[in-house]
Amino acid sequence: MSYRLLTAVILTFLFFGCIQQSKKEKSFTSSLLQYDAEIDGLIKQMNLEEKVNMLHGNTMFSSAGVERLGIADMKYADGPFGIREELQPHSWAPLGWTNDSATFFPTGSALAATWSPEIAYKFGTGMAREARIRGKDMILGPAINIQRIPTGGRTYEYLSEDPYLSSRLSVGYSHGVQDNDAAVCLKHFALNNQENNRGTVDVIVDERTMREIYLPPFKAAVQEADAYGVMSAYNKVNGWWCAENDMLLNKILRDEWGFAGLVVSDWGGTHSTVESVEHGLNVEMPEGTYLGQALLDSVKAGAVSEDVINQRVLEILRVRKAIKPVPEDEANQIMTSQPAQQKIAYEVATKSIVLLKNDGILPIKTENKPVIAVIGDNAVRGMATGGIGAGVKTLYEVSPLEGLKSRIGDQAELIYAQGYVPVLLDYARIFGNKPQEEVDKEEREKAILNKKLNAEAVAVAKKAEMVLFIGGDNRAVETEANDRENIFLPSDQDGLIQKIAAVNPNIITVLVSGAPNDLNVVQPNSKALVLSWFNGSEGGNALADILVGNISPSGRLPFTLPKKLEDSPAYALDNYPRGQKKGDVFVGLVEETDSDITGENTGDNKNDPNKGYYSEDMLVGYRWFDTKQIPVMYPFGHGLTYSIFEYSALNTDQEEYGADDKITVSFNLKNSGSVAADEVPQVYIHRINPSVEWPFKELKAFSRTALNQGEAKTISLEIPVQSLRYWNEETHSWEDDLCDIELLVGASAGDIKLTKKVSLK
Ligand code: BGC
Repeated sequence: MSYRLLTAVILTFLFFGCIQQSKKEKSFTSSLLQYDAEIDGLIKQMNLEEKVNMLHGNTMFSSAGVERLGIADMKYADGPFGIREELQPHSWAPLGWTNDSATFFPTGSALAATWSPEIAYKFGTGMAREARIRGKDMILGPAINIQRIPTGGRTYEYLSEDPYLSSRLSVGYSHGVQDNDAAVCLKHFALNNQENNRGTVDVIVDERTMREIYLPPFKAAVQEADAYGVMSAYNKVNGWWCAENDMLLNKILRDEWGFAGLVVSDWGGTHSTVESVEHGLNVEMPEGTYLGQALLDSVKAGAVSEDVINQRVLEILRVRKAIKPVPEDEANQIMTSQPAQQKIAYEVATKSIVLLKNDGILPIKTENKPVIAVIGDNAVRGMATGGIGAGVKTLYEVSPLEGLKSRIGDQAELIYAQGYVPVLLDYARIFGNKPQEEVDKEEREKAILNKKLNAEAVAVAKKAEMVLFIGGDNRAVETEANDRENIFLPSDQDGLIQKIAAVNPNIITVLVSGAPNDLNVVQPNSKALVLSWFNGSEGGNALADILVGNISPSGRLPFTLPKKLEDSPAYALDNYPRGQKKGDVFVGLVEETDSDITGENTGDNKNDPNKGYYSEDMLVGYRWFDTKQIPVMYPFGHGLTYSIFEYSALNTDQEEYGADDKITVSFNLKNSGSVAADEVPQVYIHRINPSVEWPFKELKAFSRTALNQGEAKTISLEIPVQSLRYWNEETHSWEDDLCDIELLVGASAGDIKLTKKVSLK
């Protein structure tokens, strides 16, 4: 038996030996199955070449149909936060069209900060409309991997560290897209939680952690939104590349969850012919290295059965039937970005901005026409592009400074200073190809320039009544293919803030970042602290509206802001593989390595950059900080408003619940402040006397609620007891852990206002 076959057999027994696991699963039947009879007839008319031709990219962003039979090509649109410009058929170079500028929507973490499936639905609607204007069938998004490490290069693109929040938003986004005639492609399936060595790392994860933390957003979008597409990730999971991972693609996604659509590989993420096609991959992107001629030869040689090919073609054709192609003469007739979508981008942005701290300096008062020093490169920097991977050729992007000028340009004197030298995209440096002397020289020059810009900023700050420091990361700092080395603010922004604070204590800091930063210096030096994300075409307008009080802030953190990076789980346990970075899919893959499939971290390979031992298990994000009682800078779910909310009268409809019951939790929420605002009450569950181990608490319900000043509402939320089950690794099934639980209702994971005990029997 070959190593791979043996591995497959062992995995099958280890993880899926028990068919019984599906006995309690909620059954799901995809609407895509309705086309099968019709498609059967079509497949019978196709020859083998035509079929195989459908199983790989024919350009960078399309895969073939069969013209003779009236089957159109499948057209894919990158990526999750705006429709990518048109590229050359076989390279990443743009075609240079003049009408393919799209709306730049806020990126994933911004969307997640809205804590609103309804907003995610609108976001999906906007994305789908622009995809259709461009003649595209499938959007390569949403990107829904769990934010495992604060340094993750694509944290800004992903949603949250919490599977429940991520699930609600992926379902909203997917419905929004698919109700508007385009398909989603959930990515990256699965466990693509780091960018360094993403093309080589083998994620070693136990079954319970995988089921309870990393897979739920995918499962929810498949079963609740009937997602039509999935993109396999670059990495391996438990020894197998995701594009040929029988466990993930066949067993879990298709057999267990009932997914009936198509799986595309990530670009260049296919590694085999026979295994990929047999284990569930439909389309190799962007070309047919493995699922082209090699596949044709394999079928002819009898190594792959034509039945498998027919099945893979059927799955593609189901999506093709559900998504009608846009006729050539209707696509690209108008500019991609349209006002209706720009309005959605604005709405998402206004609801995403998180007010972390406010000692009363916000909203900015302009009665006395203040002089405001606006300092920081991010006050003027566009965030639609600037890193590796899909960006958006945006029709426009309102910067924070422009937003401020448009909202209060005539009520305040705004004086700008860049303040520091930004980090800009440097491929050679990211991929370690720049000689050290050159790096050192650049750093010396940068330090000199930084000093000059710092001095200018301090001079400007001296003249002003208040300072709006607009810093944070940017798209070159947080980028695909590269994790950050640390979470400190780049370009020594901490040093600059301290210099500014010495001459002007009235500092409002705005962080334009998509991921956590270390706030130890910024926090005490700022009277207000705002997180305003990579926030799309309308980001600057939305920010200005929040800062001047036209709208009360209402975003909530979708991740924990740790006090320091080393406190976060994968760093504290030293299980984020920090060995040498070995390149990326963009610069050619390194050689394959054999993998351990047991999921145990033997310790032998701790510094192997190609092994990711997820030994923190389920203790990801706040689950870790809470359980280990590690203080944080700002907790998951945190966000202030310009109002005050009172929580009272927590109640449940019963005191005891059975395994199939729903717990109805109700409580009163009152806006007792002086302005209208949205509050996001959150319900967490703490198990009092469980029979298995659990994180200290877990989010199980939330609700964004708009209340006028003085208004009160009874909030009622449902928690199915079934959603509290755990994955039993012995029986390979979801099991009840019926015990006493405490319902914790609060404004964040760190601000629980009401508690009530109930029993599960
Ligand atoms: C990314 C995908 C993206 C694809 C096509 C890959 O590098 O991981 O998310 O959709 O490129 O641009």
